[in-house]
Order: sequence, then C-alpha cells, then structure tokens
Amino acid sequence: MQKAGNTIEVCFSPALFGLFDSKDCIVVVADVLRATSSICVAFEHGAGRIVPVETTEESMAYRNKGFIVAAERKGEMVPGFDLGNSPFSFMSRDLKGKTIALTTTNGTRAIRAAAGSYKVAIGSFLNISALCRWMAGEGKNVICLCAGWKNKFNLEDTLFAGAVVSYLTGKAGFYTECDSALAASHLYEKAKPDLYNFLENSSHRKRLQRLHIEKDIAYCLTPDQTSVIPVLEGDFLVNLNS
Ligand code: MLT
Repeated sequence: MQKAGNTIEVCFSPALFGLFDSKDCIVVVADVLRATSSICVAFEHGAGRIVPVETTEESMAYRNKGFIVAAERKGEMVPGFDLGNSPFSFMSRDLKGKTIALTTTNGTRAIRAAAGSYKVAIGSFLNISALCRWMAGEGKNVICLCAGWKNKFNLEDTLFAGAVVSYLTGKAGFYTECDSALAASHLYEKAKPDLYNFLENSSHRKRLQRLHIEKDIAYCLTPDQTSVIPVLEGDFLVNLNS
C-alpha cells in the first residue's frame, strides 16, 4: 500500500546523482565543511546573491562586474581572491546587498549538478531547523545531495543528511525506502550527542586541522545559527527568507 506523505532520499556523492529522479524534488545540497555553511553565513550577514561556479576562472571573471570573488581549493583560499571559504571570513565583511562569486573544491560543483531539480536549497547545521520546517510544508519529495570530497563519501555531509532524515521522518510525516537515507539517519543518531568528536578522524577534519582551522569545524557543526534558506534561482543563490 502506498504510504502517505513525501519521501526523503540521500545521495552520498555527486557521481551518483544521475541515478536519482530529481526533476520534481527539492534537492538539499550539503557541504557542511564548509561551502554550504559559509553560504548560510554570507546571507545571514546581508549578502544579496551568491553565484556558485565551478572554476576559479569563472569566479575571477565576475570581479569585472563588481562582485566579491571567493575561491577555495584543498581547504585554502586561492591567492588573488577577496575571500576563501571560511565562514568567519563572510562575517567580517560589509556584504550587505553585495553579490559574491564563489567556487570551492566540491560544494559549488554539487550545487551546479543539482540545478535541473524542482528546487535546489542549501543545507548546513547552521540553518537546519529553518530548512527542515520549510521542507516539511512544501509537499515535495526531498533528496539530500552530499558534496563529499572529489566524489568520495564523507562523514560530515552524511551526518547532516541523517539529521534531515531524522527530522523529516520523525516530525514531518516523511518516509523513506532509501538505504543510504536509513544509513545516514542511523549514523546521525549515534553521532548527535557529540558531532565534533564523532568526526575526530574524518578526512576533511584532518585536512582542515593541518591548516589550523579547527575553529571552522566547531562552528560549522553548531546547529541553528541562522534561519536563512538559500535557494537557486537561475544562476544565483538567494535567501528565500529575505
Ligand atoms: C568543499 O567545497 O569541499 C569544501 O567547502 C572545502 C572547504 O572549504 O574546506
């Protein structure tokens, strides 16, 4: 018997996204360390629009339009750009009404990969409750797309996806028959008492630790720091809640 309510699925990598039928779904893109967290912070601090692009050349070309240009590769800011991808760098600038061109190693690619969906939304722990409340009312099936690392599975995006699965199935009448959603949810339920320590040996945390930016990790794992809901409209991300 067909169950009532909408479905939630989880895609562990952009390389697998072609297996999902997303044309009538809300696709939540997660790159919690740190692209989607930084995007949420930028809108929380007044950014007008963000254009996610795949290459540093595309991002830099927007400087001629007066955009703020931001680029990260391998966790580090690309020389010559205004910003890298630390959420803290999006707090310390006068972003009000500005447009930012952003490229990161994985996150912005994942956003572009989801562009053919009914709606692309940006998810992070920072906006998780506002995002889930909004999705609960949209009457659409949801796919969480984990950005991962160079198309490989990563823990932090999966924990975020698991938190979304737990919320939507536990509080919003969603259901799932997607094993990756079930796996993500079980992992999250085990990790949620202490996400930071659960990720102690994760690949990207090690990568960021080598760059001495542990503070970014702790902040990006802190739930509900903003109620912004960035969504893709054409080529630009805008805040649904502005
Ligand atoms: C990514 O795009 O994979 C991340 O956002 C990279 C980072 O900022 O550390």
